[in-house]
Amino acid sequence: MKALVLAGGTGTRLRPITHTSAKQLVPVANKPVLFYGLESIAAAGIEDVVVVVGDTADEIEAAVGDGHRFGLRVRYVRQDRPLGLAHAVLVARELLGDDDFVMYLGDNFVIGGITALVDDFRARRPDAQVMLTAVRNPSAFGVAELGPDGRIVRLEEKPSRPRSDLALVGVYLFTPAVHEAVRAISPSGRGELEITDAIQWLIDAGREVRSVEISGYWKDTGNVTDMLEVNRTVLESVTPQLDGDVDETSEIIGSVRIAKGARVRRSRIVGPVVIGDGTEVTDSYVGPFTSVAEDCRITGSELEYSIVLRGAALEGTGRMQASLIGRYARVTPSPRTPHVHRLVLGDHSTVELSS
Ligand code: TTP
Repeated sequence: MKALVLAGGTGTRLRPITHTSAKQLVPVANKPVLFYGLESIAAAGIEDVVVVVGDTADEIEAAVGDGHRFGLRVRYVRQDRPLGLAHAVLVARELLGDDDFVMYLGDNFVIGGITALVDDFRARRPDAQVMLTAVRNPSAFGVAELGPDGRIVRLEEKPSRPRSDLALVGVYLFTPAVHEAVRAISPSGRGELEITDAIQWLIDAGREVRSVEISGYWKDTGNVTDMLEVNRTVLESVTPQLDGDVDETSEIIGSVRIAKGARVRRSRIVGPVVIGDGTEVTDSYVGPFTSVAEDCRITGSELEYSIVLRGAALEGTGRMQASLIGRYARVTPSPRTPHVHRLVLGDHSTVELSS
């Protein structure tokens, strides 16, 4: 059995972060979200992985390499344009060969891993197996309608009028039967080859498509709100470890992990929080559910429930919350009076000003 990991796409919902980097590499508790997926694939006993990459191929390949550190053998296939999840299966056809495979969306997060799902598929080996979970906003997902016998009758991608609240989770299991399906379907209204259409094709062809409802935790980290929420969940189980240099006037409360090369001066850190190597926190407050990556400077600032990426600097910012700060971004107060907002924003940025 192989794994097909989708790490291409455009990431419009995470702009402007995705203008310069891959959304699958945005860190959750200071580890790229994609790495959690690769670890859960390895834990399920799968070694052969095909990673689909797009415009951010170099960055993904530099981060994942040949996969040996995950105990995996990783090969890459280039998708010239993000033409859909079923298109990704199409371009990976040769590398997947005639093996069964698990398709894993590289920006998705499944707490507890995928081992049980993979074992279940191996035991029954239907032509395809999908996971469903009840969501509050089904229109944002692929949605399944079940018949009275519990079998899937219909699948629809991002329906405007959803027929159920059961969304497709970003982990799919396939036998090679799916290859015929992805060849047979045509692009949808939004110009993509939809995996929902391929699975619907299998259903219509009388193939066995099994669905399993999961109540466990799954999140698509495609937008900032979900990203922060996944970060919160992962931080909840962080093991405290204070390897960094913390001065006596600083106060560390709760589960806090401070990496070796980090320095904390005259600050208060209330966990769960992780602070990366080379980061300096001075005269500041870092509150619950915050991940600060490597080489950041947090000075005279207050920060909670946020993710700060590598090399970012916050200086004299006052209280910040629910924020995602990009790599090498700088946040400073305006030096002028009266108070004005002076912004240099990337395309598609969102800024919420409280006054
Ligand atoms: P999505 O989040 O559905 O799509 P996207 O990356 O284009 O993001 P947005 O909706 O914000 O514009 O993709 C799910 C995963 O699959 C993600 O890791 C990107 C990947 N993907 C591909 O590799 N190829 C594709 O053609 C598509 C559509 C997605």
